[in-house]
Amino acid sequence: MCLVLQPSQPDRNIALEMIRVTEAAAIAAARWSGRGDKNAADGAAVDAMRFVLGGVAMDGIVVIGEGEKDDAPMLYNGERIGDGRPPLVDIAVDPVDGTTLTAMGRNGALSVIALSERGTMFNPGPCVYMNKIAVGPRGRGSVDINASATDNLTELSKRLKKPIPELGVVILDRPRHDALLAEVREAGARVLSISDGDVAGAIATGWPNSGADVLFGIGGTPEGVIAAAALKGLGGEIQGMLIARDDDERRMAEGLGYDFTRVLTTDDLVASDNCFFSATAITDGDFLRGVRFHDFGATTQSMVVRSRSGTVRTIETFHRHNKLEEFTSAGF
Ligand code: FBP
Repeated sequence: MCLVLQPSQPDRNIALEMIRVTEAAAIAAARWSGRGDKNAADGAAVDAMRFVLGGVAMDGIVVIGEGEKDDAPMLYNGERIGDGRPPLVDIAVDPVDGTTLTAMGRNGALSVIALSERGTMFNPGPCVYMNKIAVGPRGRGSVDINASATDNLTELSKRLKKPIPELGVVILDRPRHDALLAEVREAGARVLSISDGDVAGAIATGWPNSGADVLFGIGGTPEGVIAAAALKGLGGEIQGMLIARDDDERRMAEGLGYDFTRVLTTDDLVASDNCFFSATAITDGDFLRGVRFHDFGATTQSMVVRSRSGTVRTIETFHRHNKLEEFTSAGF
Protein backbone atom coordinates (compact mmCIF):
# COMPACT_ATOMS: atom_id res chain seq x y z
CA MET A 1 0.00 0.00 0.00
CA CYS A 2 1.32 3.45 -0.88
CA LEU A 3 0.94 5.99 1.92
CA VAL A 4 0.72 9.61 0.74
CA LEU A 5 1.51 12.07 3.49
CA GLN A 6 -0.62 15.22 3.42
CA PRO A 7 0.89 18.28 5.08
CA SER A 8 -1.48 19.70 7.69
CA GLN A 9 -0.09 23.22 7.23
CA PRO A 10 -0.41 25.32 4.10
CA ASP A 11 2.74 25.26 2.00
CA ARG A 12 4.04 27.57 -0.67
CA ASN A 13 2.10 25.85 -3.44
CA ILE A 14 -1.16 27.29 -2.18
CA ALA A 15 -0.07 30.79 -3.23
CA LEU A 16 -0.77 30.09 -6.87
CA GLU A 17 -4.16 28.61 -5.99
CA MET A 18 -5.06 31.81 -4.16
CA ILE A 19 -4.18 33.87 -7.22
CA ARG A 20 -6.48 31.73 -9.34
CA VAL A 21 -9.26 32.48 -6.85
CA THR A 22 -8.87 36.28 -6.90
CA GLU A 23 -8.29 36.34 -10.66
CA ALA A 24 -11.61 34.59 -11.28
CA ALA A 25 -13.44 36.91 -8.89
CA ALA A 26 -11.83 40.04 -10.37
CA ILE A 27 -12.71 39.06 -13.94
CA ALA A 28 -16.30 38.33 -12.93
CA ALA A 29 -16.60 41.66 -11.10
CA ALA A 30 -14.90 43.58 -13.90
CA ARG A 31 -17.64 42.53 -16.32
CA TRP A 32 -19.88 44.74 -14.17
CA SER A 33 -17.39 47.58 -13.82
CA GLY A 34 -18.93 50.97 -14.55
CA ARG A 35 -22.43 49.54 -14.96
CA GLY A 36 -23.79 51.08 -11.79
CA ASP A 37 -24.89 47.85 -10.11
CA LYS A 38 -22.66 47.06 -7.13
CA ASN A 39 -24.69 44.06 -5.98
CA ALA A 40 -24.40 42.43 -9.39
CA ALA A 41 -20.63 42.99 -9.38
CA ASP A 42 -20.31 41.58 -5.88
CA GLY A 43 -22.59 38.61 -6.59
CA ALA A 44 -20.65 37.68 -9.73
CA ALA A 45 -17.34 37.88 -7.83
CA VAL A 46 -18.68 35.76 -4.95
CA ASP A 47 -19.91 33.06 -7.33
CA ALA A 48 -16.58 32.99 -9.15
CA MET A 49 -14.59 32.86 -5.95
CA ARG A 50 -16.78 30.12 -4.52
CA PHE A 51 -16.42 28.03 -7.69
CA VAL A 52 -12.63 28.16 -7.79
CA LEU A 53 -12.20 27.77 -4.01
CA GLY A 54 -14.28 24.59 -4.11
CA GLY A 55 -11.57 22.82 -6.10
CA VAL A 56 -8.58 23.85 -3.98
CA ALA A 57 -6.88 21.04 -2.03
CA MET A 58 -7.55 22.27 1.50
CA ASP A 59 -9.91 21.95 4.43
CA GLY A 60 -10.86 25.60 4.89
CA ILE A 61 -13.22 27.40 7.24
CA VAL A 62 -14.49 30.80 6.15
CA VAL A 63 -13.77 33.04 9.16
CA ILE A 64 -14.54 36.20 7.21
CA GLY A 65 -17.03 35.78 4.41
CA GLU A 66 -20.06 37.50 3.02
CA GLY A 67 -21.99 37.51 6.29
CA GLU A 68 -24.17 35.07 8.16
CA LYS A 69 -25.60 32.02 6.47
CA ASP A 70 -29.16 33.36 6.24
CA ASP A 71 -28.08 36.50 4.42
CA ALA A 72 -25.53 34.96 2.12
CA PRO A 73 -25.84 31.52 0.61
CA MET A 74 -22.28 31.69 -0.64
CA LEU A 75 -19.09 32.00 1.37
CA TYR A 76 -20.93 32.53 4.61
CA ASN A 77 -19.04 32.81 7.89
CA GLY A 78 -18.31 29.33 9.20
CA GLU A 79 -18.70 27.61 5.82
CA ARG A 80 -16.32 24.73 5.04
CA ILE A 81 -14.55 25.31 1.77
CA GLY A 82 -12.05 23.43 -0.39
CA ASP A 83 -12.00 19.75 -1.25
CA GLY A 84 -11.71 18.65 2.40
CA ARG A 85 -8.10 17.46 2.26
CA PRO A 86 -5.39 18.99 4.48
CA PRO A 87 -4.05 21.61 5.04
CA LEU A 88 -6.45 22.90 7.70
CA VAL A 89 -6.84 26.63 7.16
CA ASP A 90 -8.79 29.77 8.06
CA ILE A 91 -9.96 31.85 5.12
CA ALA A 92 -10.96 35.50 4.86
CA VAL A 93 -12.47 36.70 1.61
CA ASP A 94 -13.54 40.00 0.18
CA PRO A 95 -14.49 39.18 -3.41
CA VAL A 96 -14.82 42.92 -4.10
CA ASP A 97 -13.22 45.46 -1.79
CA GLY A 98 -14.71 48.56 -3.33
CA THR A 99 -18.14 47.54 -4.63
CA THR A 100 -19.04 51.17 -5.32
CA LEU A 101 -15.66 51.80 -6.95
CA THR A 102 -16.36 48.86 -9.26
CA ALA A 103 -19.93 49.90 -10.03
CA MET A 104 -18.81 53.45 -10.82
CA GLY A 105 -15.74 52.33 -12.79
CA ARG A 106 -13.46 54.18 -10.35
CA ASN A 107 -9.89 53.27 -9.47
CA GLY A 108 -8.87 51.17 -6.49
CA ALA A 109 -11.15 48.09 -6.40
CA LEU A 110 -9.51 44.77 -5.52
CA SER A 111 -10.59 41.18 -5.14
CA VAL A 112 -8.77 39.77 -2.10
CA ILE A 113 -8.32 36.62 -0.07
CA ALA A 114 -6.24 35.77 3.00
CA LEU A 115 -5.44 32.31 4.28
CA SER A 116 -3.71 31.18 7.46
CA GLU A 117 -3.34 28.09 9.62
CA ARG A 118 -6.53 26.89 11.31
CA GLY A 119 -7.55 28.87 14.39
CA THR A 120 -5.19 31.80 13.81
CA MET A 121 -7.47 34.45 12.29
CA PHE A 122 -9.35 37.04 14.36
CA ASN A 123 -13.09 36.58 14.06
CA PRO A 124 -14.76 40.03 13.92
CA GLY A 125 -18.12 38.60 15.04
CA PRO A 126 -20.65 41.45 15.17
CA CYS A 127 -17.96 44.17 15.19
CA VAL A 128 -18.33 45.81 11.80
CA TYR A 129 -15.94 48.71 12.32
CA MET A 130 -12.43 49.15 13.60
CA ASN A 131 -10.16 52.16 14.05
CA LYS A 132 -6.89 51.41 12.23
CA ILE A 133 -3.36 52.60 11.83
CA ALA A 134 -1.17 50.87 9.27
CA VAL A 135 2.41 51.40 8.19
CA GLY A 136 4.92 49.68 5.93
CA PRO A 137 8.14 47.86 6.95
CA ARG A 138 10.20 50.99 7.67
CA GLY A 139 7.52 52.52 9.86
CA ARG A 140 6.89 49.37 11.85
CA GLY A 141 7.18 49.93 15.60
CA SER A 142 6.96 53.72 15.36
CA VAL A 143 3.18 54.19 15.65
CA ASP A 144 0.65 53.79 18.46
CA ILE A 145 -3.10 53.80 17.85
CA ASN A 146 -3.66 55.37 21.27
CA ALA A 147 -1.49 58.39 20.41
CA SER A 148 -2.75 61.43 18.48
CA ALA A 149 -2.35 61.63 14.70
CA THR A 150 0.12 64.49 15.24
CA ASP A 151 2.30 62.41 17.58
CA ASN A 152 2.19 59.47 15.20
CA LEU A 153 3.23 61.65 12.27
CA THR A 154 6.08 63.08 14.34
CA GLU A 155 7.38 59.63 15.28
CA LEU A 156 6.91 58.28 11.76
CA SER A 157 8.72 61.25 10.29
CA LYS A 158 11.72 60.57 12.59
CA ARG A 159 11.69 56.86 11.78
CA LEU A 160 11.42 57.35 8.02
CA LYS A 161 13.82 60.32 8.10
CA LYS A 162 11.27 62.19 6.03
CA PRO A 163 9.84 65.60 6.94
CA ILE A 164 6.15 65.58 7.86
CA PRO A 165 5.15 67.57 4.72
CA GLU A 166 6.51 64.68 2.66
CA LEU A 167 4.44 62.01 4.45
CA GLY A 168 1.47 60.58 2.54
CA VAL A 169 -1.50 59.77 4.79
CA VAL A 170 -4.31 57.56 3.49
CA ILE A 171 -7.72 58.38 4.97
CA LEU A 172 -11.16 57.15 3.92
CA ASP A 173 -13.28 60.12 2.87
CA ARG A 174 -16.04 59.98 5.50
CA PRO A 175 -17.63 62.68 7.69
CA ARG A 176 -16.48 60.70 10.75
CA HIS A 177 -12.91 61.57 9.74
CA ASP A 178 -13.37 65.35 9.49
CA ALA A 179 -11.48 66.07 12.73
CA LEU A 180 -8.75 63.57 11.87
CA LEU A 181 -8.35 65.10 8.43
CA ALA A 182 -8.07 68.59 9.89
CA GLU A 183 -5.46 67.45 12.41
CA VAL A 184 -3.36 65.72 9.74
CA ARG A 185 -3.46 68.82 7.53
CA GLU A 186 -2.66 71.05 10.51
CA ALA A 187 0.38 68.85 11.19
CA GLY A 188 1.42 69.56 7.60
CA ALA A 189 1.19 66.08 6.06
CA ARG A 190 -0.34 65.27 2.68
CA VAL A 191 -3.71 63.50 2.75
CA LEU A 192 -4.32 60.84 0.15
CA SER A 193 -8.10 60.69 0.35
CA ILE A 194 -9.80 57.49 -0.79
CA SER A 195 -13.54 57.10 -1.31
CA ASP A 196 -13.44 53.33 -0.58
CA GLY A 197 -11.10 50.39 -0.41
CA ASP A 198 -8.98 50.61 2.70
CA VAL A 199 -7.38 47.18 2.11
CA ALA A 200 -5.63 48.75 -0.89
CA GLY A 201 -4.92 51.82 1.26
CA ALA A 202 -3.21 49.71 3.92
CA ILE A 203 -1.21 47.72 1.37
CA ALA A 204 -0.05 50.98 -0.24
CA THR A 205 1.79 51.88 2.98
CA GLY A 206 3.94 48.78 2.49
CA TRP A 207 4.36 49.12 -1.25
CA PRO A 208 7.56 50.76 -2.53
CA ASN A 209 7.02 54.20 -4.07
CA SER A 210 3.25 54.22 -3.63
CA GLY A 211 3.51 57.63 -1.95
CA ALA A 212 1.53 56.33 1.05
CA ASP A 213 3.33 56.13 4.40
CA VAL A 214 0.49 55.56 6.87
CA LEU A 215 -3.23 54.80 6.93
CA PHE A 216 -5.40 56.32 9.64
CA GLY A 217 -9.07 55.96 10.43
CA ILE A 218 -12.15 53.82 10.86
CA GLY A 219 -12.99 51.15 8.30
CA GLY A 220 -14.34 47.61 8.19
CA THR A 221 -13.05 45.08 10.73
CA PRO A 222 -12.96 42.26 8.15
CA GLU A 223 -10.88 44.50 5.89
CA GLY A 224 -8.54 45.09 8.85
CA VAL A 225 -7.93 41.36 9.29
CA ILE A 226 -7.30 40.90 5.58
CA ALA A 227 -4.93 43.88 5.55
CA ALA A 228 -3.08 42.33 8.51
CA ALA A 229 -2.37 39.19 6.46
CA ALA A 230 -1.05 41.33 3.62
CA LEU A 231 1.07 43.56 5.86
CA LYS A 232 2.53 40.53 7.64
CA GLY A 233 3.99 39.40 4.35
CA LEU A 234 5.04 42.91 3.36
CA GLY A 235 6.78 43.41 6.73
CA GLY A 236 4.51 46.25 7.84
CA GLU A 237 2.22 46.66 10.80
CA ILE A 238 -1.42 47.34 11.55
CA GLN A 239 -3.05 48.15 14.87
CA GLY A 240 -6.81 48.18 15.36
CA MET A 241 -9.39 49.00 17.99
CA LEU A 242 -12.98 47.84 17.63
CA ILE A 243 -15.62 50.57 17.39
CA ALA A 244 -19.29 50.01 18.19
CA ARG A 245 -21.90 51.83 16.13
CA ASP A 246 -24.26 52.13 19.09
CA ASP A 247 -24.80 50.91 22.66
CA ASP A 248 -26.75 47.82 21.57
CA GLU A 249 -23.91 46.69 19.33
CA ARG A 250 -21.39 47.36 22.10
CA ARG A 251 -23.39 45.39 24.68
CA MET A 252 -23.93 42.50 22.31
CA ALA A 253 -20.26 42.32 21.36
CA GLU A 254 -19.07 42.68 24.95
CA GLY A 255 -21.42 39.83 25.89
CA LEU A 256 -19.54 37.72 23.35
CA GLY A 257 -16.19 38.68 24.88
CA TYR A 258 -15.07 41.47 22.54
CA ASP A 259 -13.06 44.23 24.24
CA PHE A 260 -13.36 47.76 22.80
CA THR A 261 -10.37 49.03 24.79
CA ARG A 262 -7.92 46.43 23.54
CA VAL A 263 -5.33 47.24 20.92
CA LEU A 264 -5.37 44.48 18.32
CA THR A 265 -1.89 44.05 16.88
CA THR A 266 -1.00 42.49 13.55
CA ASP A 267 -0.40 39.21 15.41
CA ASP A 268 -3.76 39.45 17.19
CA LEU A 269 -5.49 39.83 13.84
CA VAL A 270 -3.54 37.01 12.17
CA ALA A 271 -1.64 34.97 14.73
CA SER A 272 0.13 32.65 12.31
CA ASP A 273 3.45 33.40 10.69
CA ASN A 274 2.36 31.10 7.92
CA CYS A 275 -0.24 33.10 6.06
CA PHE A 276 -0.95 34.04 2.49
CA PHE A 277 -2.60 37.01 0.86
CA SER A 278 -3.64 37.43 -2.74
CA ALA A 279 -5.19 40.40 -4.52
CA THR A 280 -6.21 40.93 -8.13
CA ALA A 281 -7.09 44.41 -9.33
CA ILE A 282 -10.61 44.84 -10.66
CA THR A 283 -10.10 48.48 -11.63
CA ASP A 284 -6.76 50.29 -11.96
CA GLY A 285 -4.91 51.02 -8.74
CA ASP A 286 -1.65 52.38 -7.39
CA PHE A 287 0.22 49.11 -7.64
CA LEU A 288 -1.80 46.86 -9.98
CA ARG A 289 -3.61 47.46 -13.27
CA GLY A 290 -7.27 46.49 -13.44
CA VAL A 291 -8.78 43.77 -15.64
CA ARG A 292 -8.44 44.43 -19.36
CA PHE A 293 -10.80 42.65 -21.76
CA HIS A 294 -9.53 42.31 -25.31
CA ASP A 295 -9.95 40.28 -28.50
CA PHE A 296 -8.21 37.25 -27.07
CA GLY A 297 -9.67 37.18 -23.58
CA ALA A 298 -8.64 39.15 -20.53
CA THR A 299 -5.46 40.19 -18.74
CA THR A 300 -5.21 40.50 -14.96
CA GLN A 301 -2.57 41.79 -12.58
CA SER A 302 -2.29 40.25 -9.11
CA MET A 303 -0.01 40.19 -6.12
CA VAL A 304 0.52 37.27 -3.79
CA VAL A 305 2.33 37.51 -0.48
CA ARG A 306 3.65 34.66 1.64
CA SER A 307 4.48 35.73 5.17
CA ARG A 308 6.85 32.89 6.04
CA SER A 309 9.29 33.80 3.29
CA GLY A 310 8.27 37.45 2.96
CA THR A 311 8.01 36.92 -0.77
CA VAL A 312 5.86 39.34 -2.72
CA ARG A 313 5.05 38.37 -6.28
CA THR A 314 3.22 40.41 -8.86
CA ILE A 315 1.77 38.29 -11.60
CA GLU A 316 0.26 39.28 -14.90
CA THR A 317 -1.97 36.58 -16.33
CA PHE A 318 -3.40 36.24 -19.76
CA HIS A 319 -6.75 34.40 -19.74
CA ARG A 320 -7.80 33.00 -23.09
CA HIS A 321 -11.45 33.26 -24.19
CA ASN A 322 -12.15 29.53 -23.97
CA LYS A 323 -11.07 29.50 -20.31
CA LEU A 324 -13.26 32.49 -19.57
CA GLU A 325 -16.18 30.73 -21.24
CA GLU A 326 -15.69 27.75 -18.92
CA PHE A 327 -16.10 30.18 -16.01
CA THR A 328 -19.21 31.62 -17.65
CA SER A 329 -20.82 28.22 -18.13
CA ALA A 330 -20.18 27.58 -14.43
CA GLY A 331 -22.49 30.48 -13.73
CA PHE A 332 -20.41 33.65 -13.77
P1 FBP B 1 -17.43 47.46 0.16
O1 FBP B 1 -16.65 47.04 -0.99
O2 FBP B 1 -18.03 46.31 0.89
O3 FBP B 1 -18.43 48.52 -0.22
O4 FBP B 1 -16.40 48.11 1.22
C1 FBP B 1 -15.60 49.18 0.87
C2 FBP B 1 -15.02 49.88 2.08
O5 FBP B 1 -14.55 51.14 1.66
C3 FBP B 1 -13.90 49.13 2.79
O6 FBP B 1 -12.68 49.15 2.10
C4 FBP B 1 -13.86 49.85 4.10
O7 FBP B 1 -13.20 49.11 5.11
C5 FBP B 1 -15.33 50.04 4.39
O8 FBP B 1 -15.98 50.05 3.11
C6 FBP B 1 -15.67 51.29 5.13
O9 FBP B 1 -17.02 51.25 5.50
P2 FBP B 1 -18.04 52.44 5.25
O10 FBP B 1 -18.21 52.58 3.76
O11 FBP B 1 -19.31 52.00 5.90
O12 FBP B 1 -17.47 53.67 5.84
